[in-house]
Amino acid sequence: MLAAPLRLGSRSAVKTPVASAKRNVHDIMISRTGKPIIRQGGGGRSSLSGHTATVFGATGFLGRYIVSKLAKQGTTVVIPWRDEDAKRHLKVSGDLGQVVMHEFDLRNTESIESAVRHSDIVYNLIGRDWETKNFKFHDVHIDGAARIAESCAKYDVDRLVHVSALNADEHSPSEFYRTKAQAENIVRGVFPEATIVRPSTMYGAEDRFLNVLASKTTHFSSNSQKAIVRPTHVADVAEALEYMMHNDWTAAQTFELYGKEELSVAEVAEMVRRVTLKKHRNYNIPSPIMKQICKVLELAWWPIYSPDQVAREFINDTPTQGAKTFADLGITPAEFEHTSLTYLRSYRSNLYFDQPMDASELGKFRKGEVHVVD
Ligand SMILES: NC(=O)c1ccc[n+]([C@@H]2O[C@H](COP(=O)([O-])OP(=O)(O)OC[C@H]3O[C@@H](n4cnc5c(N)ncnc54)[C@H](OP(=O)(O)O)[C@@H]3O)[C@@H](O)[C@H]2O)c1
Repeated sequence: MLAAPLRLGSRSAVKTPVASAKRNVHDIMISRTGKPIIRQGGGGRSSLSGHTATVFGATGFLGRYIVSKLAKQGTTVVIPWRDEDAKRHLKVSGDLGQVVMHEFDLRNTESIESAVRHSDIVYNLIGRDWETKNFKFHDVHIDGAARIAESCAKYDVDRLVHVSALNADEHSPSEFYRTKAQAENIVRGVFPEATIVRPSTMYGAEDRFLNVLASKTTHFSSNSQKAIVRPTHVADVAEALEYMMHNDWTAAQTFELYGKEELSVAEVAEMVRRVTLKKHRNYNIPSPIMKQICKVLELAWWPIYSPDQVAREFINDTPTQGAKTFADLGITPAEFEHTSLTYLRSYRSNLYFDQPMDASELGKFRKGEVHVVD
């Protein structure tokens, strides 16, 4: 049987230009340790950035934002996971095959090594706000971070970005901040070119800051919500982390990433009250009593509030003088008051959901025009 002649204009007859086939010299980059990074395509979906990134802690709050940013630009992202269900939403962040899942255990060095050995950048976002029966702060922040840094050094990974926290201090009254500071020193000792990132309190759709303030109308604190915070938008931090992958000058640097506004938690709670149109009450409980209550609450198998969180209520977000910030990365942090409206509005009752919000009104509490009640 004769093959049907090709019709002019049919799909097979028309030669479609293949953009990805064309390469320029700037598509090839030599990494810090001399490995070639070869880009393909015009950027975005269906192209390749040439990078392979491992993101420890990808299943957390910040994790989903950085994975989304990397994978949709064509970076192959390796996701070490420990809970089957916690990672599912990340699979669609990139093209088929772009997001690679890898089961691991923070105490199993082999599983960490196999997660980093093919990558040219490793992000360590692993951290925990509270201790559990299986993992103390020391296990997660220090031992885990050390194992990851050692694995990166062993396999000569180009870049390691270690996420710590603003206020990390070896002499802090909070064990969380002490272990974060100790981890920074250990990571730098093992991998001197590591980039250390210290975000302040992050907010966004899945945060543990605005969501906690907005979801309850009765709060308990030990410091009358007087702690000063400098909230930073999670997407800005993710943008900074992505920038670090493309810019090797950020190696061996420390960045403190915090927002422009400096507010007490009581002021933020007042803003939440104004947006959600719900009454909020805060009861002050002296910290020694609160810590004892929290010790009992820790017996529950879900996190409620820990004694260390009580200690952190007395620590203000304090940037280090001269530290590099968003400005050094060319990023303008989002305005807290306006950006946070997006997340808070959903907490309104359906009775007032459509009521307009005068954004300019929101700024008043900060200028001292609105009395903030304890
Ligand atoms: N959120 C903030 O406001 C804030 C402020 C300053 C600094 N930071 C730091 O920034 C980083 C990211 O914050 P985040 O809010 O995205 O944290 P998160 O939502 O609590 O996520 C923490 C991540 O660490 C993983 N992880 C915790 N313990 C682990 C363990 N024992 N073994 C293996 N994995 C473990 C979690 O995995 P699972 O999903 O399996 O539990 C999760 O992927 C953390 O280091 C945090 O300390 C956060």
